[in-house]
Amino acid sequence: MGPGSRDAVRDKLFPVISAFGKSAKEYIAVDVSEKSLLGAKEEVAVAFPHVQANVIHADFVQDNFRFGKSIPVELATLFGLTLCNLPVDPLVAGLPEKMLTASLSRIRTHFASASRNFVITQDANQDLESLRRAYMAQKELYLTLPHLMLRDLPIKGKFNPDGFDVDVEFIPSTQACAVSFIAKEAMQFSIKDENFQVKRGQRLYFHNAFKFDVATFTRCIRNAGFDVLETVVQAKNPCVLHVLKARPA
Ligand SMILES: C[S@@+](CC[C@H](N)C(=O)[O-])C[C@H]1O[C@@H](n2cnc3c(N)ncnc32)[C@H](O)[C@@H]1O
Repeated sequence: MGPGSRDAVRDKLFPVISAFGKSAKEYIAVDVSEKSLLGAKEEVAVAFPHVQANVIHADFVQDNFRFGKSIPVELATLFGLTLCNLPVDPLVAGLPEKMLTASLSRIRTHFASASRNFVITQDANQDLESLRRAYMAQKELYLTLPHLMLRDLPIKGKFNPDGFDVDVEFIPSTQACAVSFIAKEAMQFSIKDENFQVKRGQRLYFHNAFKFDVATFTRCIRNAGFDVLETVVQAKNPCVLHVLKARPA
């Protein structure tokens, strides 16, 4: 699910398919991005000619679908941070876990076989300095967002797209790594019918990458109806891998 770029397919998916050798029969890419689907299908078809490569163009959190109708043994994988990038207020305790559990519960409905294997990774890095280094590397990209807002939204009034700085925080009460704009000056503007008054120094959250600890993530997995077969934690690597089995629906 969510294969991403061709590089990600080669780095993360190929080792999984290779591990099954000739017994791997079919690969199904699930993504909302047609570009990602096409890339994944082509990469797999070329590198593993014995594997039938297919796609499902769907949202794995919102849509209803089954991975396959006649697959005897299935393994779904979800690598990367997708499920933990949640568009919620990063200060509301409890809400992110509820959303993660809801997303995992929907994913559980996609399994079609009796085996229902699922491998998922999480980033458990809660070190503010290393999070800052990682997310601040994107600062110039983030700062284009106010310009895109001005270009694409019906903004009226005092809105300065150059009047923002970027900050990265870790919020222990919700385990959010929250990226926000800090207004460098007061602004007063409207977007359609909504009025905004922004004070100098005000923080405007625009991206959360939740960095749940392993206990929280595991609780959400179990509450969503999965059994944990194995959790792989490596020293000095904040990325954790869980091997799961979906309980029957
Ligand atoms: C951050 S990339 C991760 C790519 C790759 N798995 C990796 O670990 O590098 C997220 C991918 O998932 C897809 N994606 C994100 N949310 C999705 C959803 N709800 N349903 C389907 N695809 C989704 C995106 O289009 C993108 O290809």
